[in-house]
Amino acid sequence: MRLQDRIIGITGAGSGIGRACALAYAAEGAVVAATDLSDRADAVVRLIADRGGRARAWSLDVTDRAAIPGVIDAIRTVMGGLDVWHNNAGVSTMGRFVELTERDWDVNMDINAKGVFNCSQVVARHMIAAGGGKIINTASMAGKKGDVAFLPHYVASKFAVVGLTQAMAAELAPSGITVNAICPGYVVTPMQDNEAGWEAELRGMTPDEVRRLYVDDTPLGRLETAEDVAKVAVFLASSDSDFITGASIDVNGGAWMG
Ligand SMILES: NC(=O)c1ccc[n+]([C@@H]2O[C@H](COP(=O)([O-])OP(=O)(O)OC[C@H]3O[C@@H](n4cnc5c(N)ncnc54)[C@H](O)[C@@H]3O)[C@@H](O)[C@H]2O)c1
Repeated sequence: MRLQDRIIGITGAGSGIGRACALAYAAEGAVVAATDLSDRADAVVRLIADRGGRARAWSLDVTDRAAIPGVIDAIRTVMGGLDVWHNNAGVSTMGRFVELTERDWDVNMDINAKGVFNCSQVVARHMIAAGGGKIINTASMAGKKGDVAFLPHYVASKFAVVGLTQAMAAELAPSGITVNAICPGYVVTPMQDNEAGWEAELRGMTPDEVRRLYVDDTPLGRLETAEDVAKVAVFLASSDSDFITGASIDVNGGAWMG
């Protein structure tokens, strides 16, 4: 098992990519602190236990800067440390640039970008004291490619994640901490269901026609699964990635070759 006894915390673990990563980490022997809003991580923790793995759920809102240190302290105390932290929680809304609201901007920036800052800062302090660790960020293809329709505010938030990944990697390397990001493409999750619906309305198409656009934009010829992303997350959480830092790894079926 590639992650035997490694203690891994992950945000947004109750759905989509975060859920798949939590399951994959546990399947590789990790002890998983699955965090999400309110009780949203409970079901994945039950599933991990049913499969013979080890996990525990925590309520963690990545925008709640005041509450984050207490939750991460509790995780470290109960789990016995923290080897890897995966900032995965994220949201999207869609609209034409000229029609976006301040709320669209604030929600995307607060959760997707500032959430990474909020959690990483607390985690990094602990990892510096512990002598090292790994931080993984779920960024996006939209963190490298700005010409994505109807997502300017989301693009800005994900470019921020890619930049912050590099800045943290440079500063934290002397402390033995690696920081890397994953940039998925068109992943089948509840977020994509929402986006296909919004985009369908904006383009005057059906959601299935929008999904066909996503497939047509993907040289490997299918939609991405959350498991496609989780396999790379396992690699980044494992010692196999020890000499990689500051990287934002494309996992998108060729939809963007940056
Ligand atoms: N689905 C895609 O095509 C795709 C592509 C590239 C990147 N991503 C990124 O992957 C990550 C996961 O997305 P997904 O597609 O699995 O979406 P999802 O909607 O299935 O899951 C997102 C999770 O984040 C949680 N969350 C939302 N706000 C939160 C907050 N304030 N604090 C803590 N948790 C919060 C939600 O409760 C949910 O469990 C996001 O960062 C997203 O931007 C998704």
